[in-house]
Amino acid sequence: MCDLSKTRNNVVAAKGNPSAKIFIIGEAPGEKEDITGFPFVGRAGKMLDTVLSSVDIDPLEDCYITNIVKCRPPENRRPTSLEISRCITWLEDQISHLKPSIVILAGSTAVEGYLGIKDPITKIRGTWIVKNEIKFMPIFHPAYLLRNPSKEKGKPKWLTWQDLKAVKKELDLL
Ligand code: URA
Repeated sequence: MCDLSKTRNNVVAAKGNPSAKIFIIGEAPGEKEDITGFPFVGRAGKMLDTVLSSVDIDPLEDCYITNIVKCRPPENRRPTSLEISRCITWLEDQISHLKPSIVILAGSTAVEGYLGIKDPITKIRGTWIVKNEIKFMPIFHPAYLLRNPSKEKGKPKWLTWQDLKAVKKELDLL
């Protein structure tokens, strides 16, 4: 049993289109997600919708969206490696059943939790990683973009736009 089950209200499995070619992995449910039972429905979710839409990717039609862990950590802290290990087979099952072509890893917790890569997100974002015939694209977490709202060239939001343009280009080739 995982301790997160003691404090959560709802298990947050996923939202979006199970047939989508893009699969998005975030960190963990927050307060709104815990209340509604759906991922990325709070402020970070709105930011995710905005950046996806800016490259003509429909968040619910073109994507299937989930998190590394399915229950909200108290005070929205990062999930621990034990909590991630308790939950990881669910995520692995989601990916092996849905067989997405592209996986967007939103933030370093997703990159480390799923691929085991500890590189800082500033270094690894924007670079394709291919594993088991799936193309993984690490991007900044949308909550980080909320804290860094400038759209100026070279800033996190502009960089995320470049990363998602690369995703859209790949999607159009499929
Ligand atoms: N909401 C989610 O579902 N996941 C995150 O990583 C952040 C907000």
